[in-house]
Amino acid sequence: MQDFIQEHFINRKNTNSSKWDNLAVRFNDNRDLLAMWVADMEFKTAKEILSAINERVNHGIFGYSLTPNSYYESFISWMKQYHNVELKKEWIRFNLGVVNSIYHLINCFSKENDSILILSPVYYPFARAVKDNHRKLVENELVYNEDNGEFCIDYDKLEKDIVTNDVKMVIFCSPHNPISRIWNADELKKCFDIFKKHNVLIISDEIHQDFTYKKSFISALNYEEYFDNLIILNAASKTFNLACLLNSHIIIPNEKLLAVYDEFAKRFNQIETNIIGQLATEIAYKKARYWLENVKEIIYKNYLYIKDEFAKDEITKNIIISPFEGTYLLFLNFSKVINENRMKEFIQDDCMIAIDYGDWFGKDYKGFMRVNLATAPIHIEEFVKRVKNQLKIKDYR
Ligand SMILES: Cc1ncc(COP(=O)(O)O)c(C=O)c1O
Repeated sequence: MQDFIQEHFINRKNTNSSKWDNLAVRFNDNRDLLAMWVADMEFKTAKEILSAINERVNHGIFGYSLTPNSYYESFISWMKQYHNVELKKEWIRFNLGVVNSIYHLINCFSKENDSILILSPVYYPFARAVKDNHRKLVENELVYNEDNGEFCIDYDKLEKDIVTNDVKMVIFCSPHNPISRIWNADELKKCFDIFKKHNVLIISDEIHQDFTYKKSFISALNYEEYFDNLIILNAASKTFNLACLLNSHIIIPNEKLLAVYDEFAKRFNQIETNIIGQLATEIAYKKARYWLENVKEIIYKNYLYIKDEFAKDEITKNIIISPFEGTYLLFLNFSKVINENRMKEFIQDDCMIAIDYGDWFGKDYKGFMRVNLATAPIHIEEFVKRVKNQLKIKDYR
């Protein structure tokens, strides 16, 4: 693991990184904050991917391109091998990113003022996409258990929110960012039955599908019975740290939905592909599983380190850590040790750490923060050290 870190852990300052070089804008802070927010990684992607890109760049021609069959084979076989999904080539469409796809699907499958539901706390661009497109945002709150930090779904409330608001679409996050839940079969079926009963179109964002640790992830693509109402979004971008190469998948198994989407996409003449993004994805799925396994090992160790270190200390043992099942993001509840109105003063002003504030994900989560674990242990140790020390020096309650 040490060798892997040595080889892949990179200083990203001054590389136009939104995580490291946009702190002054996003956090209104010109100091040298330790950046643990944006969900990308501090690890250089796999050497097999880099050498394929280099070879392609050296070829020197960037004319119009197409998606080769080998791309589909690589993606389909990854989905079969690791997610037990029988993916068909005909179902796959491409886009520049999952968030971009959410914006498109909202426009394609709903009208202004239609109600769209999200289960909060959730990745904040979901709410933004609904609001930016002048749809009505329905926030169904997950139920939080303060004893163990776990979030779960209140099915009665979910159904009531759908019926009362005449919800047309749900943007479902699976695995769920920021709470790092991997929904189990029973939870998925219960939710999807409710969506189906009320004819709610499910957009299942599965971008974090490959970050599983002790629990398996179940793709919605395993449930044929919901295909009439289902669109899946995924990409290799989180899995292999390729976000800026802008290549993602929209998967639509139902012919009618696919025809509606294709008609919509025609209006944008959306036919071109991004050759570098597609090449990186193809090679990643073919050759870089070992890289992902290494990264996952580091991430899980980082999680255990925070959990163990916080448990050892009289103050930090009161921080509630949501069970870490999937993604590489950890959701921490500081409300027992910090007054929720003093979160910024604590973590940003005093600890000099940039995290995702809990209330970015939902208004009731001011006492929470989301921390990115996809970094070298040295950053995680620094995070723990600053948090522990600062809570000893000053009382934020
Ligand atoms: C749930 C979820 N969806 C989508 C994205 C972003 O995807 P993209 O960069 O493809 O738009 C993220 C990034 O953090 C995410 O957590």
